[in-house]
Amino acid sequence: MRPVLVKTISQMMQISTKLKGTIGFVPTMGYLHRGHLSLVETAKKNADIVIVSIFVNPTQFSPNEDLSQYPRDIDSDIKLLSELDVDYIFFPQESEMYPDGCKTWVNVDKITQVLCGKSRPTHFKGVTTIVAKLMNIVDPDLMYMGEKDFQQLVVLRQMAKDLNFKTEIIGCPIIREEDGLAMSSRNKYLSPAGRKNALCLHKALLLAKKRFRQNITNSSKIITEMADLIENMEGVIDYIEVVDPDTLEHITELKKGCRILLAVIIENTRLIDNMKME
Ligand code: PAF
Repeated sequence: MRPVLVKTISQMMQISTKLKGTIGFVPTMGYLHRGHLSLVETAKKNADIVIVSIFVNPTQFSPNEDLSQYPRDIDSDIKLLSELDVDYIFFPQESEMYPDGCKTWVNVDKITQVLCGKSRPTHFKGVTTIVAKLMNIVDPDLMYMGEKDFQQLVVLRQMAKDLNFKTEIIGCPIIREEDGLAMSSRNKYLSPAGRKNALCLHKALLLAKKRFRQNITNSSKIITEMADLIENMEGVIDYIEVVDPDTLEHITELKKGCRILLAVIIENTRLIDNMKME
């Protein structure tokens, strides 16, 4: 069935107050791919009502980033969500979400300034602000987020805990193309050659996992090997880090459960990926 398209905040609030049963929520910026759809499928399995928001959030882009070019295709998104039997699509206007620009911000300290936060210092402030607004409007019991944006997941969990949101945040596994590239709306920017080189992120993570399984645990040694592989495939490294999955603190010796996170620029497109060491 076609989902109900909800375009205003007041309408969405009225609906969510009246809903009976568990509300599962998937916040997105649209241009949906299989990664998003897997979140929706998990939500459908676990919640009585599923709401997906589509909003390209300007406050999480800095002036030199790709806001105006960010891919959009609302008709295809509606079609895909209809096929999955989503109940509601919340599709608000920027003028209603930020009527006076953004005067009030939600900011999580410290863990937003490391990893992606170093090269995108205002990004997470935009993410936490919009997600807090969306959570207030939709009032979900469960919220589904992809582990591809692992730092975003940790930051939002911290925000929900600190601000006493009742919503439980559920992290869902990364969905990859057949050759290993993590699904992302930004993959669309890559040329065929760039698309091939973009495999260096996943290959480097697999190499790290292989070394870990060979009992090589020194983070710097593994990062150096990963960096060589990436540079040989024309990737420009923003960062490669081994971190504690809860605190995002840097770890010098790999151990079971730690995560390796990386950001690499391929032909001007910044791609991220990560893997749990096990
Ligand atoms: O991951 C995303 O698509 C966005 O950062 C989110 C969580 C929808 C907030 O705009």
